[in-house]
Amino acid sequence: DHAERNRLIEAYELAGKLYRYILLSTKEGKPALEYLRSRGLTDKLIELYGIGYAPAGWDTLAKLLEKREFALPLMEQGGLISSRQDGTGYFDKFRDRIIFPISDWKGNIIAFAGRAMGEAQPKYLNSPESMLFHKSRTLYNLHHARPHIRKSQELVLFEGYMDVIKSWEAGVTNGVATMGTALTQEHAEAIRRLAERVIVAYDGDNAGQTAAYKSIPILENAGCQVRIALLPSGNDPDEYITKYGSERFVREVIGTAVPSIKYKLLHFRKNFKLQEDGEKLRYIGQALKLLAGLSSPIEREHYVRELSSEFHYSYEALQQNLNEIRLQSEKNE
Ligand code: CTP
Ligand code: MN
Ligand code: MN
Ligand code: MN
Ligand code: MN
Repeated sequence: DHAERNRLIEAYELAGKLYRYILLSTKEGKPALEYLRSRGLTDKLIELYGIGYAPAGWDTLAKLLEKREFALPLMEQGGLISSRQDGTGYFDKFRDRIIFPISDWKGNIIAFAGRAMGEAQPKYLNSPESMLFHKSRTLYNLHHARPHIRKSQELVLFEGYMDVIKSWEAGVTNGVATMGTALTQEHAEAIRRLAERVIVAYDGDNAGQTAAYKSIPILENAGCQVRIALLPSGNDPDEYITKYGSERFVREVIGTAVPSIKYKLLHFRKNFKLQEDGEKLRYIGQALKLLAGLSSPIEREHYVRELSSEFHYSYEALQQNLNEIRLQSEKNE
């Protein structure tokens, strides 16, 4: 109900404040602050993103919530604390972790992500689903990015917190994250309500690229125009910015994002040994099949010309082939 929701939001605000204080103003927070600085976050960014540190003690937050007379079972349900097995009270859910607050589009904190600084698993511990937090509907950083998305009519979609934050610093202020690679229909619909154009900037590893590929129909079904940013394998946007700088990221990664059709062609050509004639023909057949699905004649012509010049087959032959595929699929409808 409404009162409980509001109370839980208050608790998250209080916890966020506590964790920020511990990060910025206590000895206990020093290593966490060092960690964040070593990852290139300025004090200004740490403040803007409300980043904090949950200390290693077992009940720093639980005690504070109790003192402020928050209903502890509600706090447990909301994912801030857990009850002890032996029924003797509660302990903090987030311990010895960097805290990234997750906000709704209005800026209310609705969940935390806690990052381990060492090798502790999981790397990120998240608040559970609650009356406030539905991961499948939430886009990280939406409250900051929203006006920039509306103004530019474009949204950049990342996987993670650090990607969003470092990109913001690089000048990409219309970025949000799915917090992993699980983009849902609900996300896509929320995105489409804000902007028509989307650039997917998922990680350059296999998981990220596979997810980028899968995101295309989800976003297109919601009515978005999709482009995909190509990251060198093994880099995510955060790492890219650290290695090559902001300007190069904006120019060479965001600025050269390719239309979804181009990305599909690039993505599946890896499965063909193109130096062999048979494979080459098979690839071209598959490519034409993809292009046949494009509704715009100009786009079809554009990519058929590209295929023609890359593989040295006449434009006319490829075009004829494509028309046959289109006729065939019309018959099958
Ligand atoms: N994620 C998560 N739980 C995990 C791992 C990942 O919720 N155990 C989510 C986080 O939102 C994370 C995103 O998936 O930001 C992308 O995962 P990954 O690429 O593995 O992490 P990074 O964002 O690159 O994290 P970092 O840069 O801090 O290492
Ligand atoms: Mn804010
Ligand atoms: Mn990843
Ligand atoms: Mn990553
Ligand atoms: Mn990363």
